[in-house]
Amino acid sequence: MHDLTAIVLAAGRGTRMQSNLPKVLHEILEEPLLSYPLRVLTGLGIKKTLVVISGDADGDRVKAAFAESTQTIWARQLVPRGTADAVAAALNDLQGVSGDVLILCGDVPLLTAATLTGFYEKHRQLNAKMSVMTAVLDDGSTYGRVLVDESDAPLAIVEAKDASLAQLEVKRINSGTYIVDIDLLRRALAETDCNNAQGEYYLTDMVAFARREDAITAIYDVRDSREILGVNSRKDLVSLEAIMALRIADFWLDNGVTVHAPEQVRIGPKVEIGQDSEIAPGVFLMGATSIGSGCSIGAGVQIKNSTIFDRVEIKPYSVIEGAEIGMQSAIGPFARIRPGSLIGAEVKIGNFVETKKVRFGKGAKASHLAYIGDAEVGAESNLGAGTITCNYDGFNKFKTVIGDRVFVGSDSQLVAPVKLGDDVLVGAGSTVTRDVPDNAIVTTRVRQKEFAGRGMASRRRSAEEK
Ligand code: UD1
Ligand code: CA
Repeated sequence: MHDLTAIVLAAGRGTRMQSNLPKVLHEILEEPLLSYPLRVLTGLGIKKTLVVISGDADGDRVKAAFAESTQTIWARQLVPRGTADAVAAALNDLQGVSGDVLILCGDVPLLTAATLTGFYEKHRQLNAKMSVMTAVLDDGSTYGRVLVDESDAPLAIVEAKDASLAQLEVKRINSGTYIVDIDLLRRALAETDCNNAQGEYYLTDMVAFARREDAITAIYDVRDSREILGVNSRKDLVSLEAIMALRIADFWLDNGVTVHAPEQVRIGPKVEIGQDSEIAPGVFLMGATSIGSGCSIGAGVQIKNSTIFDRVEIKPYSVIEGAEIGMQSAIGPFARIRPGSLIGAEVKIGNFVETKKVRFGKGAKASHLAYIGDAEVGAESNLGAGTITCNYDGFNKFKTVIGDRVFVGSDSQLVAPVKLGDDVLVGAGSTVTRDVPDNAIVTTRVRQKEFAGRGMASRRRSAEEK
């Protein structure tokens, strides 16, 4: 489909969302709505995609949110005067272009590449100049009704608000996705007026226009009508999100990944998962996350924008973001791995450990209750329960460097900037403020004192005597 030009309509107000955020920036599985059709178009190899956004600050926000998609061309519709007017705004940037254009809506996230391919194939086979993607619904609700002739070629589309009672009975509806010859489209738009119930310029009028020109027109009924569902309200947003989540879980089930209780799992569209990994109920995998093979992701785990290498175990209720976890490491339960954490292979991070901007060498351990931030931890080092890197003085962040095979006793504070050499032993309860050379013991505890015979028994006795 690389010879097609695509136009995505995304300038509508989306008033029913009752939101300050432009509709196409509302998220499904933590990705903006508009990213769904754009991803499908990229997957189909479509070279040129124009997205029509509004001329105001909402349009600026949409454009800014997609600053990274450099292939997208942004067209501005200054006033939302209807779908025909939106397409006309895109055509300004397509002067001299010929061939077919694919038009779709930015708020229809479930449309698949397979359906678009089938749509285009039928359009080509019939040599059509204009094709409409359609669905057959029991209740056409607010969709435009597609009127066809005896050979199922579309004659016209009538908007629900303009339809007669008899026309409202028509079960075939307009999905809002079209393939049309651009020259026909130009001629049709030049003639479109706004003499209708909504006072808008209707793109759908091009169907009747094509018939007046005797052009070949076609419909394409989608097999699964859920694909053409659009988002108009927050209820739509969450119900489409649930459909998308199940579809993605299904894909992974078909591709070597066990997803337990798939209806409770949320996996984003950009996530990759290796063979024989297991995903427990309640897991969220979002953003550009990649999970290796043979991994186990425990119940309630949330992972975002992270790379998990092979045979890693993430135990329940751990939260990982912007991190890398090396092969055969074990994380959690209840660990918090924050951005910039580069955890090496065979590392163990246990319960209630928080890491941020750290590098853990192979086989290092922090098994319980620790905060390790702005730090380097050498291979095979062991950080005891309650180890804290004091990285912040209220103004600036400082770094802690821990060598290889270091043992940090429980409840120790490492006050950065500070450096522990290799093979250092830190006595439990120490507050280390100066660098420690290789193979040294460091301890900062006050010496222990005993006061014989003055323990609890004697205190109880004196309380009773009062
Ligand atoms: C449109 C179709 C209808 C179809 C339905 C499918 C027309 C006249 N009607 O109706 O037959 O069943 O889609 O969902 O086309 N947009 C703009 N600028 C505008 C108006 C709309 O960019 O001035 C964009 C919207 O952001 C949206 C798309 O066009 O992505 C469709 O607009 P919307 O108002 O939702 O169309 P409907 O009235 O639902
Ligand atoms: Ca409308």
